[in-house]
Amino acid sequence: MKELKILAIVVAISAVLYIGIEPFAHSQMHPHVAPADFSFEDLEKNSKTGDAKRGAQTFMMAGCTGCHGVASQGIPAPMDDETASLSFGVVPPDLSTTGYLYDANYLATLIKDPVKAMKLEHKFNDSNPHPMSAFMGLGGDIDQEVADMVAYLQSISPSSIDGKKAYEDACLRCHGIKYDNKPLPTQADALNAYMGTVPPDLSMTIRSKGEEYLNTFINDPQKHLPGTSMPRVGLNQEAQEKIVSYLENVGDRKKPERETLGLYLMRPFIIPCQSKF
Ligand code: HEC
Ligand code: HEC
Repeated sequence: MKELKILAIVVAISAVLYIGIEPFAHSQMHPHVAPADFSFEDLEKNSKTGDAKRGAQTFMMAGCTGCHGVASQGIPAPMDDETASLSFGVVPPDLSTTGYLYDANYLATLIKDPVKAMKLEHKFNDSNPHPMSAFMGLGGDIDQEVADMVAYLQSISPSSIDGKKAYEDACLRCHGIKYDNKPLPTQADALNAYMGTVPPDLSMTIRSKGEEYLNTFINDPQKHLPGTSMPRVGLNQEAQEKIVSYLENVGDRKKPERETLGLYLMRPFIIPCQSKF
């Protein structure tokens, strides 16, 4: 009888801990935010259908290559990393994989209004302009011109890239990843002046933040850190998932090992009659 009472008390205490305190602690550590929005609902839709051939010409006339290289098309970066760091605060990314990485509607908005697409209105304005100049149009229908450029960027992009390449093209200009031997291409001083801080190396981020946090943060940094200078990067869901699993591979190389070990240790319980394994 006494044992039963003790058992009841233990069960009650465990229940309080698990049902009451654990979710509470979890909600404190990870305040609830809306899930990632890969349709970028806040941005106006561009209803024009793009033409990649026309877009190739528009792209060359729009001046993108004054700041960006497109290595896959034989267009090298117009400046070395040091000069680009000093000119823009950050090395502009090569655009060879842009069509794969970014949501089409995000990209259309970015071309016309980078500050809006990146959600950085609190930082950049007419007196403190963003280093990527907005495309003002070539005299025709600007939405058609933009749709054509997006179609062009999609047409030259590989249909799939791995997480490491996606990371290099979308994140590396601001975040080194030393566990994978990738130093920052941008000069730290320049980045500090541009962002107000040197963005952290992301080698161990998967452990300190966890996958759930990363998934909402990358999609919209302002949700977690209101006023932060990290831009919304505009990745589509597939590209973002690849980057998160790349971060998992780099920061948590032991995870597959741990999981196999777990199964290995569980085996005698799962298959009790098998004595050797
Ligand atoms: C005056 C220089 C300049 C011009 C012109 C320019 N860009 Fe950029 N672009 C930048 C810089 C600098 C960045 C990086 C900004 C950052 O990460 O804070 C950037 C970033 C980007 C990104 C990455 C966006 C993201 O969400 O991470 C894309 C895609 C891009 N530019 C496409 C274009 C296209 C297409 C054009 C032509 C229509 C263009 N850019 C014209 C300087 C420029
Ligand atoms: C133009 C520069 C820039 C780019 C590009 C960029 N970031 Fe950041 N990132 C920052 C800055 C600045 C901070 C520090 C934010 C702060 O403390 O307000 C940051 C912080 C972070 C953090 C830490 C968040 C936290 O809660 O402390 C993570 C994770 C992160 N970035 C992931 C990424 C990933 C993944 C990409 C590519 C998809 C990326 N960033 C692209 C500038 C950038």
